[in-house]
Amino acid sequence: MSNQTKHENLIPEEFLQISSNIVSTFGNKLPVSLCIYDDEFQRVAPLFAKETRLTPKKKDQMEKECQNGNLFITKEEYAGLAGHISQNLGALLTEHYLDEAAAAEIFYSGILKKVRSFFGNPIAETLEQLKSVLAIFSEYVWVDRNRWSHFFNTLQRTNDLSCHSVNTLFVGTAVYLKTVHKGDEKLELNSLGLGLILHDLGMTQIPTALLSKAGPFLYKEKQRMQEHIDIAEKMINRLEIKDAMVRSCILDHHERIDGSGYPRGKKADSLSTETKVCSVADAFCAIISNRWHRKGLNPILAAIVLTESSKRYDKNLTSALVSFIISNNPEMQALIQDKEKMQQLRSLALKQCE
Ligand SMILES: [Fe+2]
Ligand SMILES: [Fe+2]
Repeated sequence: MSNQTKHENLIPEEFLQISSNIVSTFGNKLPVSLCIYDDEFQRVAPLFAKETRLTPKKKDQMEKECQNGNLFITKEEYAGLAGHISQNLGALLTEHYLDEAAAAEIFYSGILKKVRSFFGNPIAETLEQLKSVLAIFSEYVWVDRNRWSHFFNTLQRTNDLSCHSVNTLFVGTAVYLKTVHKGDEKLELNSLGLGLILHDLGMTQIPTALLSKAGPFLYKEKQRMQEHIDIAEKMINRLEIKDAMVRSCILDHHERIDGSGYPRGKKADSLSTETKVCSVADAFCAIISNRWHRKGLNPILAAIVLTESSKRYDKNLTSALVSFIISNNPEMQALIQDKEKMQQLRSLALKQCE
């Protein structure tokens, strides 16, 4: 979030301006404390405390101060504001004061909340709520392609199904846009987004004890895990999800282009680009997240490991992932230049992923 130019040099760093776009999402109770810039004393002073009931008169006053560029919050209130906006993601589509790193974090937590709610209670109503935040996300993506670097920086490494789903959404959409999108034409991203988010839906019905097992899986346990595809099929039939793209992401994300995947051993020519994108994003997100026996892999190494599995993953997509990571991250760029270090890390990484 940036300070308003009107008061440039007058507003101490710890205050952040908020726009009428955000203010319009406040209900009857204030989610954060507000301050105003007092011209007479040339200082920022409290206006209303958090939880204040907004009477029409107070609302009027708040909106007027906001239109005049006088409304601020303290940086300590920022987390509270982010939590509030994550429930009202639509406000981000036209928000100008919020910087993109902050917006990406707000998107992450807003979508994560809806994913958790749907996974915990997979019914038509929670699915609709999830779809509506995805629609806002798809719209936001088109405003500026540079936003992707920030989305990438928000990926979480915890071994948690809902986080894995949001990570897969962010990575899969980035890879898809980088590979498929040409020119100015706007692509429809809602179906792919839902497919990426829901690809592991069946995992919600696998016992937690198995999911969080701290040790290698026995043969039977591995088979049980693989059943998440059949379980998901029953769930999406019950939810009447008929969209072919969503279904193929869910049913085919463990298929590999050489036919070595499961459950049907399908090969490249019977897999859509979107499904291949889902496989790459899913595998990448699994490798970078922390597991019981290892720390998540460095993103550039994870992407390189996938490009080396060119029999299993589409090389165009894995290369797009590598170039995306490098182009948006100076640290990764430096690492990939250091051939010796890369070689050491690479062999270590390959060992870990065996
Ligand atoms: Fe899966
Ligand atoms: Fe997955």
